[in-house]
Formats: sequence, C-alpha cells, structure tokens
Amino acid sequence: MEPKIKAMVAAIRRDYDVMFVIGIGGSYAGSKAAIELLPTDFPVVFIGHGYEANDMDRLWAQYQDQRIKLCIISKSGQTFEVVAALQYMEAKFRAKYGKDFTRHMIAITGAEGKLRTYAEQHQIETILHPDVGGRYSVLTIVGLFPMAVAGIDTDALLKGANFNKSQEQHLIKQYAEARYAAYQDGKRVEVMAVSMAAAQQFADWYQQLFGESEGKDHKGMWTSVLVYSRDLHSMGQFIQQGTPIICETIINIKDPGNQLDKMNQICVTAVAKAHQAAGVPVIKFDLERTAYDLGRLFNLFLEACVLYCNHLGVNAFNQPGVETYKKEMRNLLNEKNN
Ligand code: PA5
Repeated sequence: MEPKIKAMVAAIRRDYDVMFVIGIGGSYAGSKAAIELLPTDFPVVFIGHGYEANDMDRLWAQYQDQRIKLCIISKSGQTFEVVAALQYMEAKFRAKYGKDFTRHMIAITGAEGKLRTYAEQHQIETILHPDVGGRYSVLTIVGLFPMAVAGIDTDALLKGANFNKSQEQHLIKQYAEARYAAYQDGKRVEVMAVSMAAAQQFADWYQQLFGESEGKDHKGMWTSVLVYSRDLHSMGQFIQQGTPIICETIINIKDPGNQLDKMNQICVTAVAKAHQAAGVPVIKFDLERTAYDLGRLFNLFLEACVLYCNHLGVNAFNQPGVETYKKEMRNLLNEKNN
C-alpha cells in the first residue's frame, strides 16, 4: 500500500471511532469477509446493500454519538443502492457535522460517474478505483482500504496472495480443472462450505465471484453457501442422499483460539470422508486463521475462477444479466419522474 494511503488509514484510525462503508457486490464482499474472519481493532460497518432504511436507522442510532468517517466505494459511481445510501447518510452527516460534513467522507471510485462528480463538487478526498471489476478487486485498494482501517495486516495478506507463484499456479490449475470436470460430469450445484460461522462472508464473497462470472450463456454451477457443522443438520442430508447434482469445496479453518477446535477438525474430516463415499466430488482446503493464508485463498480463487470460466467458454468479466435489471429499473424510475 502506498505511503499516502497508509497515512490516510492512520488518520482515520486516529481521528474517528468508526468507519461506515457504503458499497455493494464486489465493492464490499471481500473486505467484509476479511474483517469478519480476522482479528481487528477498529470498527468498520458495511451499509447500502439494499433499500433498507430501517437497518441504517438502527446503525445510526447505535453510532451517532461517535466520530464517524464515511467511505463510499463504487467503481461506476452510479449504482442505485449506493446512491440511495449516500443520500441517506448525507442528511445524517449534514445534521451531525454541519456545512463541512463532506470533510468526513472519502470516496473510492472510477474516473467518471455520479460519485466522482459529487466528490469533486464537495472536494471529498478520493482514491481512484482501479480498472478491475468489483468481484476481482479484493486484493486492490478497494478491498485493502477498509481492511487496513480495521487493523488487518494487509502486507501479510498481500504476501500470502503472492506466495510461491509456481507451486500455487499448479494448485490453481488443478482446482479450475476439477471444478470443470464436475460440471462436465453433470454437477450443477457447488456447495461452498466453511468450517466456522465467522467465515460465512468469505463463502458469500466466493459465491458472488463464481456466480457472477460463470452464470451466463445458460451455463455454470450454482454456488450454495453452507456453514459446518451447523448446516450438516439441515442440508447435509441432501448432499449425502439427494439428487446427485452436487460437488463440494470445503474451507477448513484451523483456529487454535477456539477450545473446541479439535472437535471441529474431526467433524470436517469425517464429513469430507462421508460425502466422498456417497459419490460427491470433494475438495478440501486447510488454512490457518491468518491474513497470510486468507490472502493466499483470495488469490487462488480469483485466478481459478478466470481459468474455470475459460474452460466453460464464458466471459468471466462481464455481467449482462445484471445490466438488464438495472436498465429496467432506470426505465421505471424515468416513468415515475415524468
Ligand atoms: O463484481 C461486480 O462487478 C459487481 O458486483 C459490482 O461490484 C457491483 O455491482 C457494484 O458496482 P459498483 O462498484 O460500480 O457500484
């Protein structure tokens, strides 16, 4: 991370008690995953994932007496949810901080768009969103900035992401090929199972990465997020004996801080064995609950997703279906305003 950005991070940690982040899809999923999984020492609260003012009311009531920094992340700068959340927060910030309220905001956005114009009009400190699609941006400033503010060691995370490239390339290739082999074999659902609730957001990040990248041209697998051992008592039955359309990736996180970790490890090993015996293709990754290992896994799946999409013959980087609904929404809003 550049020294200028490090200084911005340090200033937020020094001058504020909490940072709110507005962003949706790839603009928040990865950083939230890291913040939920790794130890942190500064609160970062994610908002703007829908049109849910009640949620924002609740969070505002909780933090309104604290010094709040607002970080708005949007590559396009015009995503509806982001604009709506910004309007909501603008009113709150105006009331809290007075006419200089925009001094307490920071924007990460592309070179053009509504957010860029808004930031320029109000002289809001801005970081350029790199020219990388949201779901591929977790290892760029988009993902790293909120993580660094939360107190995560982003240098270690990036070190993990750049780990022993040649050895890692082999694993990435193997994973992409195994996933494609499962698809060719008729599997249509991939269970992405994590071994602790704190990693659920990581699985959500993965679900978005693969779902939005592969689900097009009537191809691809649906990624289903499960948390073990909790969901073994609900969906485990289907995986074991239901319609044989499932393959499974298990993320087993070793957590020496958890007194019951030994039990958890035994459980995950037993599950992998049982599911494999039932004919489910299972791939298991074991990792430590560290920034380094998480960086490794982020990179592994980012690269594997592109390779897998190449095998599948789809463009990993576009999302024409999402654009269609946005267009319909723009039409309805225009009708309403005319
Ligand atoms: O991966 C993607 O491209 C999307 O999920 C985007 O991240 C999401 O739609 C948000 O877009 P933006 O950053 O332009 O607000």
